[in-house]
Amino acid sequence: MATSTAQRGEPARIEEPQGKLGVLLPGLGAVATTFIAGVEAVRRGLGQPIGSLTQMGTIRLGKRSDKRVPMIRDFVPLASLNDLEFGGWDIRDEDCYSSAAHHGVLEPRLLDQIRPFLEGIRPMPAVFNRYYVKRLDGTHVKKGKSNWDLARMVQDDIERFRVEKKVSRLVMVWCGSTEIFLQPEAVHQTLEGFECGLKENHPAIAPSMIYAYAALKSGVPFANGAPNLTLDIPALMELAKQQQVPVCGKDFKTGQTLMKTIVAPGLKARLIGLSGWFSTNILGNRDGEVLDDPESFKTKEESKLSVLEHILQPEIYPELYKDFYHKVRINYYPPRGDNKEGWDNIDIFGWLGYPMQIKIDFLCRDSILAAPIVLDLVLFMDLAKRTGMRGIQEWLSFYFKSPMCAPSVYPEHDLFIQLMKLKNTLRYLRGEDLITHLGLEYYD
Ligand SMILES: NC(=O)c1ccc[n+]([C@@H]2O[C@H](COP(=O)([O-])OP(=O)(O)OC[C@H]3O[C@@H](n4cnc5c(N)ncnc54)[C@H](O)[C@@H]3O)[C@@H](O)[C@H]2O)c1
Repeated sequence: MATSTAQRGEPARIEEPQGKLGVLLPGLGAVATTFIAGVEAVRRGLGQPIGSLTQMGTIRLGKRSDKRVPMIRDFVPLASLNDLEFGGWDIRDEDCYSSAAHHGVLEPRLLDQIRPFLEGIRPMPAVFNRYYVKRLDGTHVKKGKSNWDLARMVQDDIERFRVEKKVSRLVMVWCGSTEIFLQPEAVHQTLEGFECGLKENHPAIAPSMIYAYAALKSGVPFANGAPNLTLDIPALMELAKQQQVPVCGKDFKTGQTLMKTIVAPGLKARLIGLSGWFSTNILGNRDGEVLDDPESFKTKEESKLSVLEHILQPEIYPELYKDFYHKVRINYYPPRGDNKEGWDNIDIFGWLGYPMQIKIDFLCRDSILAAPIVLDLVLFMDLAKRTGMRGIQEWLSFYFKSPMCAPSVYPEHDLFIQLMKLKNTLRYLRGEDLITHLGLEYYD
């Protein structure tokens, strides 16, 4: 009799998380400080890590009737929150307390309780160039003759942090601003060509790529929280493989796109047609200000638009999804700060083509949704590294708007398939049966 689980394999060899784990964040803005302050608040019992799979999630093992449902953090060996040390870079020389207070995501009452801790985290000077983020300017930046020199300086920063904080392992997560839209070109194709490009200050090499290169060279896993091209290029994939380092990206899946990847798979599951999906947002944080620049918006737009095509598969279901109209707008509206509002108008059709509409008005908090994603990525990327996994970690697609994947496949955007993939990967690593949900054995 077939069962609802697929055969188990040998458990993977996973190094234990000994010592401290360093978390390095290029960009200490709203998301990064909400994440850091949140971890410290949780460590002190001032709040709960809501939204984090590694802290609150469970995983079913074996048959439903076995009733084995451990916490994920008890099932795989993850670093403990108490072992995390934080550092980062920013173009503003502002400690994490001032930055968090400026962004206003967390209440002063909470920030004041952890003030000395946050004040102790000051950014290192950034690799920055206004050409790639038009709406920003900062003075806390590195100076070097070439991008090659700048990459070397970031590598030195990483080593200094490793020694000073006495960490045994590191993970880097890009929490910097969204850069202008770049597409892969010749200089991105090989590692050798990319390194020449660094030396010659090639304009297709953006600052985020310099951080990614430095991280990989230093053997540090890299996750990309913005839609920037960054490490989604053959040259840096080559380096990740060479250095045996795991990578993942792009663009944290929060807010409106999270909703889209929850609702769209449901419509498709019931074969409900779609004629149009109009999404608009107002937000007033610095991210919103950066995205007000058409070149940065283009990078975000591409990331947000790709989701529906992949979930709905119009080429397989032309009667339902061919030619649906999809529009995404982001409007910078300062009074809202980080408390974004996202509206969706969805025009659908059912039996015999009769039209219907769905309206979603999501009053969300961007950084509150992003912070647990940063935490999970840090802990899972460290797990991947200790397990010897290298290159693209597609099992972490769950966290991204534009998941990186092998060139031979399309990205998986359906949140529920992504979650199954993530949990089956954990089962696989532990030599547990994978879950297929067949379930015929319960009716023998
Ligand atoms: N908040 C969300 O829900 C969410 C979701 C998906 C993606 N993102 C992306 O995450 C990133 C961070 O978002 P945020 O809301 O914290 O933005 P933010 O503007 O508050 O923070 C970004 C920080 O990066 C700094 N920065 C810019 N370029 C840099 C560089 N080259 N080196 C070092 N620092 C640099 C800026 O000075 C700023 O402090 C953005 O790219 C955003 O698009 C956010």
